[in-house]
Amino acid sequence: MLLSERLKGKVAVVTGTGSGIGQGCALMFARHGAQVMGCDINAAAAQATVGQARQQGISIDSCHPCDLTDAAQVEKLMGRTAERFGGIDVLVNAGAFGAFGFIEQLDHLRDWKRTLSGELDVVFLVASRRGLICASEGAARSSTSPVPTRMSRIRSPARSRIARGRAVCWQ
Ligand SMILES: NC(=O)c1ccc[n+]([C@@H]2O[C@H](COP(=O)([O-])OP(=O)(O)OC[C@H]3O[C@@H](n4cnc5c(N)ncnc54)[C@H](O)[C@@H]3O)[C@@H](O)[C@H]2O)c1
Repeated sequence: MLLSERLKGKVAVVTGTGSGIGQGCALMFARHGAQVMGCDINAAAAQATVGQARQQGISIDSCHPCDLTDAAQVEKLMGRTAERFGGIDVLVNAGAFGAFGFIEQLDHLRDWKRTLSGELDVVFLVASRRGLICASEGAARSSTSPVPTRMSRIRSPARSRIARGRAVCWQ
């Protein structure tokens, strides 16, 4: 159900919409009128979120399966978003993989290396691509990962446009 139109006209890319934070953000943004493009490596989970939105009388677009550690797949996600909505106002980096355990029990490749890529590449690839198609002033980006995304550290063609708007960064 549409709760308000406070995000009407805003385009949000939300990663990891198959579960958790990404799913919650995507549904909430759509409930407040945003146009949402979601994605997840888990196609069934992402599709279930699309269905959940439909059942609630709101709409979420989704690009899945999309592995955010793969630059070509990120390119496809952002290209489809640009084609569908023309630009992006909000980016939520919630899609991520992290292996948790005692360090002596972690395998270097299976756990450690995969976590580095699953937490860092997934943000870098999307955020660095996003700068090229930032839609409007007042754009915001959000990250649940430890990757620094403060405006002072962003060097993209969109930086000055973002800085002039009411940019917000969450980490
Ligand atoms: N839940 C918390 O309290 C919390 C707090 C701080 C930070 N975080 C971080 O936020 C992120 C998301 O947390 P969550 O609780 O929503 O996790 P989650 O596991 O519920 O959701 C993550 C989603 O990302 C997807 N995903 C994983 N790797 C992907 C990839 N390579 N490409 C595309 N999609 C991928 C998964 O399929 C899953 O649907 C994690 O990095 C987590 O460490 C979570």
